[in-house]
Amino acid sequence: MRLLQQLSAKPYSTFALDTRLAELVELESLAELMAYQPAVTPMLLGEGSNSIFLTDQSQTVLRYLSKSRTLLSEDEKHVQLHIEAGDNWHQLVSWTVAQGWWGLENLSLIPGSVGAAPVQNIGAYGAELADCCDYVDFFHWQSRKVQRLSKSNCGFGYRDSIFKTALAGQGLIVAVGLTLKKQGKPKLGYKGLEHLNQHSSVAEVADAVIAVRQSKLPDPAVLPNCGSFFKNPIVSQSEFEAIQSRYSAMPFYPQADGQVKLAAGWLIEQTGLKGQRIGYVGCYEKQALVLVNFGRGTAADLQQMISLIQQKVAAQFAVQLEPEVRLLGQ
Ligand code: EPU
Repeated sequence: MRLLQQLSAKPYSTFALDTRLAELVELESLAELMAYQPAVTPMLLGEGSNSIFLTDQSQTVLRYLSKSRTLLSEDEKHVQLHIEAGDNWHQLVSWTVAQGWWGLENLSLIPGSVGAAPVQNIGAYGAELADCCDYVDFFHWQSRKVQRLSKSNCGFGYRDSIFKTALAGQGLIVAVGLTLKKQGKPKLGYKGLEHLNQHSSVAEVADAVIAVRQSKLPDPAVLPNCGSFFKNPIVSQSEFEAIQSRYSAMPFYPQADGQVKLAAGWLIEQTGLKGQRIGYVGCYEKQALVLVNFGRGTAADLQQMISLIQQKVAAQFAVQLEPEVRLLGQ
């Protein structure tokens, strides 16, 4: 166990605001977690790629860093893996791609830890974690036991899961079970991937996804950001038709339940805010859904930018954008 006190939050969020943490605890193994008995439930943090500390935090912040990869079973068609939560997501994806296993390639280069992946049900380029997830192991503070939740009990939805709702604050994800395929078919529905074909290898798909991400999304190590800042809004068919009658070129994604998902980045771009900045916080010039910190950004800059985007999108489209990023200290 590692304990740090009175430190800057900057290295612990890829948005890199310079707020303060009173205490940070890092646990390296399940045994350390079992022995850890906090008086007050700590706040959980992975690699900070989707969390922003808006204010100084008095609550202890906990990082669970245990990492191991276990091949549980293997047959001609599938492999089953048990991956501990502290692993880095992209390193895991790269390793599975190098083995020639299919399933995670479209989720290449997503920043963050394995343990954070089910919380958001991370998704990109036509795939999401739920597609390959068998189970999630969840440690409960109250019982101090690890419960195995099968995929159907995880409540996976668009950027949503039971870990954000009923289980929020109840414990932490310690491992994820995955099934990957030895022979797979490329998922090429996304428009940046059309130069590939059904014979492309898993490595070719991963490389193409990496290239698309690098062309659109800023590298947090160079320009601090937390990826998509807002969720793509889902509206009713009638709301969609009202907007589409005025904006026939608007991208949209019909949902299974009859509702329609809109592209928040497109909506923001229409308001003219793409490439604009407030103080040191900007609406990224190549992808309006990403907010960036030009180095000395403050929580106030960020909050003004959030409000401005929400107000302008609401005024023009009557659509309310909700943050996708976890804002701490609101
Ligand atoms: N668009 C614009 N202007 C912009 C940005 C986007 O017109 O400034 C348009 C695009 O041309 C496209 C549509 O909006 O027609 C959607 O854009 P894009 O394909 O870039 O994807 P997104 O909906 O903005 C989502 C995820 C990303 C994921 C990509 C690719 C959410 C909130 N975001 O973004 O996830 O990588 O699809 O699948 O669902 C993340 O969660 O941090 C993230 C990066």
